[in-house]
Amino acid sequence: MDNSRRTFLKSISMLAASTALPLSSFAFGLGNEKLKVTLVGTGIRGNSFWGKRLVDTYHEILEFVGLCDINPGRLAYAKEYIGVKCPTFSDFEKMINETKPDLVIVTTKDSAHHEYIIKGLEMGCDVLTEKPLTIDEDKCQAILDAERESDRKLIVGFNYRWSPYTTRIKELLKNDTIGKLVSVDFNYYLNTSHGASYFRRWHGLREEGGTLLLHKATHHFDLMNWWLDSDPEEVFAYGDLEFYGSNGPFRGENCRVCDFKDKCDFYWDITKDSKMMKLYVDHEKHDGYIRDNCLYRPEINIYDKMSAQVKYSNNVVMNYSLTTYSPFEGYRVSFNGIKGRIEAWRHIPYLQDAHIDQKDMHAEEMNQNIDALNHEPLIIHKLWNDYKTEVVSSEKGGHGGGDKRLHDKIFVNPNKKDEFDRAAGVRDGAMSILIGIAARKSIESGNPIRIEELTTLVPRAKRLL
Ligand SMILES: NC(=O)c1ccc[n+]([C@@H]2O[C@H](COP(=O)([O-])OP(=O)(O)OC[C@H]3O[C@@H](n4cnc5c(N)ncnc54)[C@H](O)[C@@H]3O)[C@@H](O)[C@H]2O)c1
Repeated sequence: MDNSRRTFLKSISMLAASTALPLSSFAFGLGNEKLKVTLVGTGIRGNSFWGKRLVDTYHEILEFVGLCDINPGRLAYAKEYIGVKCPTFSDFEKMINETKPDLVIVTTKDSAHHEYIIKGLEMGCDVLTEKPLTIDEDKCQAILDAERESDRKLIVGFNYRWSPYTTRIKELLKNDTIGKLVSVDFNYYLNTSHGASYFRRWHGLREEGGTLLLHKATHHFDLMNWWLDSDPEEVFAYGDLEFYGSNGPFRGENCRVCDFKDKCDFYWDITKDSKMMKLYVDHEKHDGYIRDNCLYRPEINIYDKMSAQVKYSNNVVMNYSLTTYSPFEGYRVSFNGIKGRIEAWRHIPYLQDAHIDQKDMHAEEMNQNIDALNHEPLIIHKLWNDYKTEVVSSEKGGHGGGDKRLHDKIFVNPNKKDEFDRAAGVRDGAMSILIGIAARKSIESGNPIRIEELTTLVPRAKRLL
């Protein structure tokens, strides 16, 4: 890896001159040795993927100059875990004023993203936010306005695009393998470990995570927008809560003190997980964030089954569903074109004759160090021909290898032309959440919702890059 500051700066300036990629305007203070980075939101994603991994991998080209969180205990732990000496702050503006960073990384819970994205841009920083961009259309519009008025840039960390498997699908579609696309079926299955985890935490409240149609499906809708290379135009959806929340047969205050430990299939002994204890339980006293909360608590107000039909501006129709208590985790997607069909899937145990440990699977997925490969097939079936099976190899950890490729793109190879246009900016971030917002509105109103009614963004038959 050539990671000298000179090469890095040259890459950035070449990028700015030659392309419209959203990474083009990283602003470096002249005379700084390294890219000055601050991070707000020192939970698991901030600590690990955007914290420790950046320090371990890119310490020659960047340095953390500040960390911020509303929980002082977790903040202190993050500083130690990430392995940095920079100051910590509970006040974001104070951090920006005192540390003058080039880049702000936003990894708070979803409902606070807009606040830091907008403040960061207004205070003259480039901003990189975790998905989802935000959780409703008003906040989305405020972000769009702030980005337009700022000369800084906003990047959305869509890691799924960077996995070799999803990239191969993009390549096949881009190469017109099955002709003009007409329809897509996309089914995503969250298992009783990963799926359930959302109902234990802030994600279970729509005012915090916008429902899983945003928090989770933003990944899937972004993939689809990128695969189809078109913007969504209209959405009709159904959704309900039938399994978690008040549907549960019993409930307790949290797993640790629950009277139903022996009866509950979801009982989880967090005290056996030292990382979870150090990151969350040890700091509960500051903000009441209970990591092993009861997933049958009555205040849960998100959907646990969701189904949406999305009509794209290029006339493709996508049927989407998200299940949150499947016995296995994975997805199936099939594309119908006028010359044939592509079928793809990941992690479906019966289709690969595998017995995957569903409990460990998510931990493995989130693990940045697992480079062991999965070899997974996809089917290309042209009309009037026999089908062909193609095997694609992707890393097991780090979201199918997407995580590390996204990092390299941002911090090592920003100038490298990417024939698949995997870098995502504010328009991509917005278009993916607008599908979720429209789906939510459709469920609530019983009507189809047009994307153009939500913000000033006008959907296009071919995506704007
Ligand atoms: N791309 C991916 O694959 C991926 C994976 C996991 C999480 N994420 C995203 O990362 C973000 C963080 O998720 P997580 O799992 O680390 O959650 P988490 O609950 O572990 O951490 C959230 C952190 O934000 C802090 N926080 C909450 N409100 C805040 C506020 N107003 N100001 C400052 N800090 C605040 C909390 O104290 C906590 O430390 C979310 O937006 C999530 O969608 C993305």
